[in-house]
Amino acid sequence: MTAPLVLGIESSCDETGAGLVRDGRLLGHAVASSMDAHARYGGVVPEIAARAHVHAVRPVIRRALDEAGVRARDIDAVAVTTGPGLAGALQVGLAAAKGLAYGLGVPLHGVHHLAGHVAADTLEHGPLPSPCVVLIVSGGHTSLLLVRDLAREPIAHLGDTLDDAAGECFDKVARVFGLPYPGGPAIDRAAREGDPGAVVFPRPLPGGYDFSFSGLKTAAARWAERHAGGVLPVADGAAALQEAVADTLTRKAVAACAEHGVGTLVVVGGVAANSRVRALAEERCRAAGIELRVPPLRLCTDNGAMIAAVGDLLVRAGAEPAPLDVSVDPSAPL
Ligand code: KG4
Ligand code: ZN
Repeated sequence: MTAPLVLGIESSCDETGAGLVRDGRLLGHAVASSMDAHARYGGVVPEIAARAHVHAVRPVIRRALDEAGVRARDIDAVAVTTGPGLAGALQVGLAAAKGLAYGLGVPLHGVHHLAGHVAADTLEHGPLPSPCVVLIVSGGHTSLLLVRDLAREPIAHLGDTLDDAAGECFDKVARVFGLPYPGGPAIDRAAREGDPGAVVFPRPLPGGYDFSFSGLKTAAARWAERHAGGVLPVADGAAALQEAVADTLTRKAVAACAEHGVGTLVVVGGVAANSRVRALAEERCRAAGIELRVPPLRLCTDNGAMIAAVGDLLVRAGAEPAPLDVSVDPSAPL
C-alpha cells in the first residue's frame, strides 16, 4: 500500500503556499507572494495579504498538484497552518483546507506555523535526530527550541526574543538605511561590499536563551542619524548589523546545544537565508563538533511544503484530525 499523500497549505503572512508530501518526501510545491504589494508600506498590510491569499490559494494548490503529477482526488489528508499569524490571512488558507477536506472526505490537520518551519528541514535532510536544537529566525519569530518528536511531543521553548524578531530588526534598519523592503535580503546584498568592523554595534545578550534586538535597531538608527546631511556608508552599516545579529544568534544556539548535550543544530526561517548567519553558524558548529542543518533557501521562507511535512508526520503517527469547525489561532503558543 502506498503511503498517504498529504497536501499542506500555508497562508499566515504574505506567502500563499501549497505543498504535497508523501512518506517524508516532497513531491511538489508552489508559492505566491504578495510581498511587492506591501513594499510601499514598508511592512505587511494584513488586509492586502488576506485579499492576495483569496486570489492565490486556488492557483497555488493547482500548481503544486501539477508539479507533483497528482490529482486532487489522490489527496489523503489536508494540513493547514492555524496559527500563529495574521487572522484574516490564516482564515483564507483554513477555509480552502476545510473545503478541500470536506469535499474529498479526508482528514484535516491544523499545524503550528513554527512546527512547519522546523519540519522544513526534514524534506531536504531526512528525519530530525532526537533531540535537536532548532533556531527559528524569521520576520515574526526568534526562538530557540528543543525538539524531540514533532508529531508526538510538545516542542520545548528554550528562549525567545524579548522585543523585535531578528528579521524585523533587519527590515526596520533597512528602512532607516534607505534600502528596499524586505530589508533582510537587501541588507545581505549591501553587506557584501561592506566592512563589518567599520562600526561595532552592541550585542545585547539577555539572560538564558532569550534574545533582544530593539537596542541594536536603535543603535543602527542613531549611527545612521549621525551621518545626516552627508553620505551614509550603507554597506558598512549593513555588514556591521549582520555581524551583530549573526553573532548573538549563533552564540546562544551553540551554547544551547552544549548545555543540553545535543549534537545537531537546525537553523530555519527567513533569516536562515542570511549569508553571515549561515557562515558563522557553520564556523561555530564545526568548532564545537555540532552537526549543522539548514534547509535550502526555498524551504527556509514561508511555504506550504513545510506544513505538508508536519501533516505527513501527524498522519503517519495516527494523530487525531481536527474537527471541521476548527478556527484559526493568530497568537497560538507553541
Ligand atoms: O520565514 P519568513 O519568510 O516569514 C516569516 O516571518 O514567518 O521570514 C521573512 C524574514 C523577513 O524579515 C526577511 O527580511 C528575512 O526573513 N530575510 C532575511 C534574508 N532573507 C529573508 N534576513 C536576512 N538576510 C537574508 N538574506
Ligand atoms: Zn514563517
